[in-house]
Amino acid sequence: MRENWGRVVAFTGAGISAEAGIPTFRGENGLWRRYRPEELATPQAFRRDPRRVWSWYRWRMSLIAGAEPTRAHRILAEWERKGLLLGVVTQNVDGLHQRAGSRRVIELHGSIWRVRCTKCGSRFDLGFGNVPEEELPRCALCGGLLRPDVVWFGEQVSTDSFLEAQELFSRAEVVLSIGTSGAVMPASMLPIDAVERGKILVEVNPEETNLSSLAAVRLRGPSGRILGELASLVEEDSSWR
Ligand code: OAD
Repeated sequence: MRENWGRVVAFTGAGISAEAGIPTFRGENGLWRRYRPEELATPQAFRRDPRRVWSWYRWRMSLIAGAEPTRAHRILAEWERKGLLLGVVTQNVDGLHQRAGSRRVIELHGSIWRVRCTKCGSRFDLGFGNVPEEELPRCALCGGLLRPDVVWFGEQVSTDSFLEAQELFSRAEVVLSIGTSGAVMPASMLPIDAVERGKILVEVNPEETNLSSLAAVRLRGPSGRILGELASLVEEDSSWR
């Protein structure tokens, strides 16, 4: 991988935030084991019972608001600063990559720290850690009901962010897939397409995933430890130069 430093893109999922105490979706303690996505993370669920959806989102927002970026988030930010990493394409909505100092972050599934009006479509940034107090937050411009600006099941990923992600992937030679089950499309098409185009997929995950069989290198373990080990190798490399 040495000659490819600088042409690496990170593709991240809930597992990179697990060490910050934010539950993942699938797996043993995953949110989708305890909650039904169709009752909380679909436009139909929001239309049926917006209070319930907002109350679940406020709970998740409070959890994230109290969390710090993990070692893995911080290492990715440092690699970007050093020119080793092109950027991060994330499925996460928690904003922890930006908190850690990453600048090029493409959020495929939106952001929990942004809301969108269901009536006029206006978007508002809440800022990290600002959890709406109202049971049903309303649009300052038209009074319409606001919703979290995240991608729910059955909704499209924004074309702009997907194209931006494809552009970043096209410049990379190595895809570092960290903490994702690879179970959700179209996000997972990015690493799959990259492998088809001859790029190297490196997986960082304690478990086998849908992407494992495509990975040239599988680094089994929590992302903090594994990226820490990779960061030490990078340090050694730069001391040879
Ligand atoms: P998942 O919950 O599907 O997968 C989390 C992955 O993280 C699993 O493969 C775990 O093995 C791994 N993992 C757990 N702890 C880890 C650690 N300490 N270090 C590294 N990896 C660890 O989460 P995503 O793949 O992000 O979509 O899920 C994709 C999408 O499904 C989410 O964005 C969300 C969800 O429904 C929407 O909300 C639209």
